[in-house]
Amino acid sequence: MTDQPRKLRSAQWFGTADKNGFMYRSWMKNQGIPDHEFEGKPIIGICNTFSELTPCNAHFRKLAEHVKRGVFEAGGFPVEFPVFSNGESNLRPTAMFTRNLASMDVEESIRGNPLDAVVLLAGCDKTTPALLMGAASCDVPAILVTGGPMLNGKHHGRDIGSGTVVWQLSEQVKAGKISIHEFMSAEAGMSRSAGTCNTMGTASTMACMAEALGVTLPHNAAIPAVDARRYVLAHLSGMRIVEMALQDLRLSKLLTREAFENAIRANAAIGGSTNAAIHLKAIAGRIGVDLALDDWTRVGRGTPTIVDLQPSGRFLMEEFYYAGGLPAVLRRLGEAGLLPHPDALTANGRTLWENVKEAPNYNEEVIRPLNNPLVTDGGLCVLRGNLAPNGAVLKPSAATPALLKHRGRAVVFENFDDYKKRIVDPDLEVTADSVLVMKNCGPKGYPGMAEVGNMGLPPKLLAQGVTDMVRVSDARMSGTAYGTVVLHVAPEARAGGPLAVVRNGDWIELDCEAGRLHIDIDDKEMAARLAAWKEAQTRNPKDASGYRNLYVEHVLQADEGCDFDFLVGCRGAEVPPHSH
Ligand code: FES
Repeated sequence: MTDQPRKLRSAQWFGTADKNGFMYRSWMKNQGIPDHEFEGKPIIGICNTFSELTPCNAHFRKLAEHVKRGVFEAGGFPVEFPVFSNGESNLRPTAMFTRNLASMDVEESIRGNPLDAVVLLAGCDKTTPALLMGAASCDVPAILVTGGPMLNGKHHGRDIGSGTVVWQLSEQVKAGKISIHEFMSAEAGMSRSAGTCNTMGTASTMACMAEALGVTLPHNAAIPAVDARRYVLAHLSGMRIVEMALQDLRLSKLLTREAFENAIRANAAIGGSTNAAIHLKAIAGRIGVDLALDDWTRVGRGTPTIVDLQPSGRFLMEEFYYAGGLPAVLRRLGEAGLLPHPDALTANGRTLWENVKEAPNYNEEVIRPLNNPLVTDGGLCVLRGNLAPNGAVLKPSAATPALLKHRGRAVVFENFDDYKKRIVDPDLEVTADSVLVMKNCGPKGYPGMAEVGNMGLPPKLLAQGVTDMVRVSDARMSGTAYGTVVLHVAPEARAGGPLAVVRNGDWIELDCEAGRLHIDIDDKEMAARLAAWKEAQTRNPKDASGYRNLYVEHVLQADEGCDFDFLVGCRGAEVPPHSH
């Protein structure tokens, strides 16, 4: 043991032959750790979102064991630690409500502990951004390993996709086309292996975003959860993070503006989830990159969607991996000059282009040629107008093309409960041309900005064969959902945005090509309605205490990434010494 200063961060804990070093080492030794593990080896944290309540991440103990093998093999010492696991399927009111909470847990766990680098184990939708946000605020060397998607769902002899089939079959039940028993029989077949949703939902989107950002090894996004190659990748990531720790290859060297622009382009090409717009903004904010909603238009629009996956297309993540995964997509973009920054550095020390330039495409139906895309212009459509002064988004690849330019009268729901109560009313005044408007489902209003924006259609219209309508709200939408759905209206109704004062019968205009979302009332009328709305406001007593109080007081709007105002920014990994 030496008292000489060492380069590794962990040496502040374990590198001194004095009282403090004794105490740090001694307690760790109760786990049976020999002396030599503390003698200058990089200490690698394995930040684990394992939880049996997050079924998509329930196989992460095994994943962590394979990361450890890699860390040991490369000469590091792995230490696994748990963080808050915000699973999408069980957690109420919505996993988004606790994304920032989880990120705080990650940030403080990394900064406060003797870690030189971390492997982030994430999978379910919000766990990936939460871990990247927390690690970015510390700016330590980090590599992400996601848990991988589930195998294809199977039901009545056909493949079914996570989430997407739920929306499809439940509409068929409402339309009287199938029985509730038939619907329920799809339950076990949809989720028949470990892993995340197998559509291009938010989990797969965020895994692709992480790969395009360069914070994973190539192919991380698509390898199925139960494929042995997922565990090989975990092992290799464990080996690589040791090198990254020794090279001090921190997240700020990977998460550059260029990397985010590559990710935005990739999102358009894969037909990714609208949630990516919120999460990328939040991650960028933590590392000091000023990403704007309009960057999605500037960089993403005009990019064809070439990945034919549900919910926009036909296939599932298994086929995506067998076809070549994200490297094949990025190669296709790069060869057409559509990869904005091929020289961006990635976690393995190579550039993005070096990683993908020879990536094969084994299935041109799944990863289609650029001249035969699924959607010609797949970039997220950013909308503005007097109904959304700070923006709203729509996913064209999941919408009905004929509805992308539409004018209709509003049918207004004051909140999600009001929607659930009235949408089934056979006397509801609504036609296929109406625009369904829902308020108070934004970050502050719900709170947590629930994934309820893809409001199911009125049963009486479903029975007539209507399959899509224009819907507008301040909510989010599951990445597995589809429809002509305007989301993330900002400012939200609860924050006094114009959405708060839309009334039944108002004319609403949607024009995706022009990027316009307009309510047909004049400025004077708008000002009068907003003044009356403000006058009538009272505080919801449920917002007065607990984490909910912190959330509602500090959450930013959708166009700002829904982070807490006080968490934006990189605070580094320095920490005052312990007072032993
Ligand atoms: Fe966890 Fe979809 S619910 S990934």
